[in-house]
Amino acid sequence: MKNMKKLMALLLALVMIFAFAACGSDEAPADDNKGDENKAPVSDVADGDNNSAADKETADFTVKEGKLIMATNAYFQPYEYYEGDKIVGIDAEIAAAIAKKLGLELEIQDMAFDSIITAVNAGSADFGLAGMTVTEDRLKEIDFSISYANGVQVVIVKEGSAIKSVDDLSAGKQKIGVQLGTTGDIYATDDFGDDRVTSYTTGNEAINALLKGDIDCVIIDNEPAKAFVKNNKGLKILDTSYADEDYAACIKKGNKELLDAVNEAIDELVADGTIDAIVAKYIK
Ligand code: ARG
Repeated sequence: MKNMKKLMALLLALVMIFAFAACGSDEAPADDNKGDENKAPVSDVADGDNNSAADKETADFTVKEGKLIMATNAYFQPYEYYEGDKIVGIDAEIAAAIAKKLGLELEIQDMAFDSIITAVNAGSADFGLAGMTVTEDRLKEIDFSISYANGVQVVIVKEGSAIKSVDDLSAGKQKIGVQLGTTGDIYATDDFGDDRVTSYTTGNEAINALLKGDIDCVIIDNEPAKAFVKNNKGLKILDTSYADEDYAACIKKGNKELLDAVNEAIDELVADGTIDAIVAKYIK
């Protein structure tokens, strides 16, 4: 197509404008976005075979035109974790499927879990997808999509531990490890007090502390817990669970266009079985 060269040149120009512009602008470049014709190629280049209705509007509501930037903390198998230098997992694949539907190119940014909401609100990422639980407190700061999965907070102990159930924790003085800023952290601190809870940057660090004997248990989400128990000898998950939760994508408060688009995409991905298939690939 004759226009293709022009479109590629335009795209290149856009990329360069964005490369030089200060971060955080959510304005479309002034002169290049007069008509839909100018927006379409961005989607087509990102994903040639896309035909979703949603991709007409993509350029306006993401941080970087043509991109969908996901903030996550990639130490949370099977939702997000490294395979070599690539971030894979349920959330990574769901995000890729959402990006595809929106005609956008997915970019994943790995950061501390407790920085995700800040990054999304500051406009350095479009959304957070991190096995993140919807809570009343978080809803005051950020919007959440419809839920795409459930989580359960469970307790990991060493085999032979005196801790047999969650109730044993209320009575005792045991030291509890959690990942900083997670619901496990928030609930355990509320229930058992600050001085009994140690927060680690990643779940892995909490598990190492448990193995070393620095702490007596780790409270964390069930699927990562299963992965930790599988990958480390001498650990087990208590039968009684600590809390049930819903996972959703977090999106900057008031970015209704992106929220609606992500919700629509999740709805479609649930309806056509894509999300089930992704989950089944990682959770047997
Ligand atoms: N579901 C918990 C929460 O929302 C833990 C999520 C941790 N996720 C991660 N990618 N490290 O607080």
